[in-house]
Amino acid sequence: MPAPLLISTRNRDKYRELSLMLGSKVDLRQPHVDDPDVEETGETLWDNALLKAKDGFERHGIPTIADDTGLEVDALNGRPGVYSSRYAGEDASYEDNVNLLLEELDGVPLERRTARFRSVIAYIDGERTERFDGVLEGVIIAEKKGENGFGYDPVFLPEKGSLTLAEMGAEEKNEISHRGRALRSFVDWWNSLSAE
Ligand code: IMP
Repeated sequence: MPAPLLISTRNRDKYRELSLMLGSKVDLRQPHVDDPDVEETGETLWDNALLKAKDGFERHGIPTIADDTGLEVDALNGRPGVYSSRYAGEDASYEDNVNLLLEELDGVPLERRTARFRSVIAYIDGERTERFDGVLEGVIIAEKKGENGFGYDPVFLPEKGSLTLAEMGAEEKNEISHRGRALRSFVDWWNSLSAE
């Protein structure tokens, strides 16, 4: 019987990616529809991942993971970073955020548009608290390309690639992505735990 694991996120796009990768390896659980949103008041990705994982574990009492992700743009001194979801304001849509990013980078040449996605996954089970990281380097192109994925995917061109994350299929994105890398380290660790 696969072990239960809660993914503490209200973001359907993240849940879709994480659940595709975890497949049947675990008995996946989601937050209850009535669980309130966790306010991301932390100053780092780790703080926020931990807040969300703690909340899920305290409410449901089963091993829980949560991911927090930020886009760090070098020409913006690392912004939006931990504020990536609220970059264009508290209730900003993905589109508002991408449009603001393109506006801020207007006129910046491609070689100076380097950026990276950074994902931090926190795992909590009442006994252990663990951290898993994943990074994807790339550049922010000047125009949106592709319809897949979510968030900043249409303007993020991974290094050594010719397709934006939004032009890739979900599995192709997971293969190389920040979240995919962080999750694979988690899965390796989780498997070693159950083999003990
Ligand atoms: P958070 O981890 O929920 O704080 O998400 C931060 C924001 O980063 C999201 O609202 C998205 O706009 C963006 N984001 C997170 N993961 C990805 C991704 O895999 N691709 C593109 N944008 C992402």
